Amino acid sequence: MTEKFSRGLEGVIAAESALTYIDGQKGILAYVGIPIEELAEHATFEETVFLLLHQRLPTRSELQKLSEELADQRPLPAPVAAILKVLPRQASPMSLLRTAISVLGHFDPQADDTSPQALQAKAIKLIAQMATLTAAIGRLRQNQETIPPHPTLSHSANFLYMLTGKEPADFAARVFDVALILQADHEFPASTFASLVVASTLTDTYSAISAALGALKGPLHGGASEQVVQMILEIGEPAKAEQYIKEKLARHERIMGFGHRVYKTYDPRARILKKYSQKLAEQTKDTRLFEIEQIVEKTVIDALGSRGIFPNVDFYSGTVCYYLGIEPALLTPIFAVSRIAGWMAHMIEYVADNRLFRPTTRYVGPPLGHYIPIDKRA
Ligand code: ACO
Repeated sequence: MTEKFSRGLEGVIAAESALTYIDGQKGILAYVGIPIEELAEHATFEETVFLLLHQRLPTRSELQKLSEELADQRPLPAPVAAILKVLPRQASPMSLLRTAISVLGHFDPQADDTSPQALQAKAIKLIAQMATLTAAIGRLRQNQETIPPHPTLSHSANFLYMLTGKEPADFAARVFDVALILQADHEFPASTFASLVVASTLTDTYSAISAALGALKGPLHGGASEQVVQMILEIGEPAKAEQYIKEKLARHERIMGFGHRVYKTYDPRARILKKYSQKLAEQTKDTRLFEIEQIVEKTVIDALGSRGIFPNVDFYSGTVCYYLGIEPALLTPIFAVSRIAGWMAHMIEYVADNRLFRPTTRYVGPPLGHYIPIDKRA
């Protein structure tokens, strides 16, 4: 076998998958062959979940069944809810979510079962519970009581209900649903790969998803959206945006929400979210943040577009959620509320034809030598 070295595994094909197609040069993204623009226009998150888990669109009755199963799995086991309450409320929401998912595994008798049926059942459970846990973490952060799930609302409307205590307006629920559809899968980012590395040992599913959450938390991955909102708020007014970005670039700082390992053009997800960010800004009559974003986007593209650096999904997902009244600290957990669908779909696909991940290193240490007794060391 010829050995090839690629830093960060860039350009390495590590698995075959029928789930997500990306053309990073042309800005194309499709789930199971369906362009993301069409899913964002016509599908629901529940339909997208079915598409990813079964690699085809559901019939009406299959969709109904999946929606009911998700609703059934929404309530947290009482001990998990109780543990969440004793954890420090101001800890990183992603760390709290990772801990909670790990605890959840202790209450699932199928945790270690890697059969296709068990993985499908755990996918539904985890998709439902990731939303309930994230909403609960959001409430506890604000020292508010958690709100039990609503049994009949859609996945997105129920999430917003559990977070705010109010049934959301149809448009708000739809925008949130689109945001979840757009982030549901993205081929092999660090979080998905991390979960599969762990799952490929045939350990329990909760260990693999905890690893994915740990990877997603990082600012070079899902952690960027929170930092985007913080940056836009720090800029404060449109007149300051261009100078702020130019100074950051002069200091060779990275602008969060720009650049991507795969996309060397405009991220198609960012294009869709930009449209919704604008609509929400107009609806809320608070266009200031959107205006700042426009100037930030133009300044970065003018400076770095020729090097393939354009807005990524995190650039507009932050302000979309901000306009929906969601605090920036919850943005990365919300990414997980969506991406759990992709993580589980990849796990189901990969484990069905499992091969333990075990790459190798290029050794650059000293040549073979001998052990030196401690009193003979210099
Ligand atoms: N701002 C400024 N410069 C950038 C940015 C950015 N956002 N992104 C890349 N660059 C520059 C780098 O400084 C580097 O320049 P150099 O060659 O002069 O050193 C060059 O572009 C290539 O950068 P790499 O880090 O090698 O590119 P990579 O493919 O690894 O980058 C990454 C991908 C990590 C996402 C990067 O673009 C980045 O750090 N972006 C900001 C964080 C971010 O938005 N993350 C979210 C990604 S999307 C997601 O995970 C959902």
